[in-house]
Amino acid sequence: MSQLGVLISGRGSNLQALIEAARAGALGGEIAVVISNVEAAGGLEQARRAGIPALFRDHRGRSREDYDGELVALLQQHHVSLVCLAGFLRRLSAAFISAFPGRIVNVHPSLLPAFPGLDAQRQAFQYGAKLSGATVHIVDEGLDSGPIVMQEAVAVRDDDTLESLAARILEVEHRIYPRAVRALLEGRYRIEGRRVVLEAA
Ligand code: GRF
Repeated sequence: MSQLGVLISGRGSNLQALIEAARAGALGGEIAVVISNVEAAGGLEQARRAGIPALFRDHRGRSREDYDGELVALLQQHHVSLVCLAGFLRRLSAAFISAFPGRIVNVHPSLLPAFPGLDAQRQAFQYGAKLSGATVHIVDEGLDSGPIVMQEAVAVRDDDTLESLAARILEVEHRIYPRAVRALLEGRYRIEGRRVVLEAA
């Protein structure tokens, strides 16, 4: 069974979606470890409740190299073959990325390449975009710039508030993240340049 590592910093609703997919046998692997850089992250408790090793590692006062080195070692100890970022609010060092080449994924709350970075739902809303959405992408050294694995659009309604738009985007994240992870874990994809081509189950 493929082993997955999940990195979080907060609430953990995408982690929960991954946990539920794994429980239903719909993830193509199991979550071996969850690591948070924030002690109070709600996702740590959710992982513990699901019987998954859940670790807090404080990044404060440490160099990026030192901190990322420890994370890589922990993930390797748990035989992780795919790293999922699920609201992990830190950029990864080049050394971390090269330890898992093409095997780190992130979920982002916009239709990339529009609105990378923090607060993407607010960026799209304030820009006046009529369409936003969610994206699962492979992580490279840029900001939310790696090859796109899966994407789904969400229409911005005239009567939307930022909160109502963000809630519909989050539902899409919860649906596409486990599906994208499954395709990657089962090896049902090939990469052609920047294009990730998924093959049917
Ligand atoms: C999600 O919107 C995700 O797209 C972004 O951070 C948020 C994390 O939410 N990268 P949660 O912790 O998974 O609930």
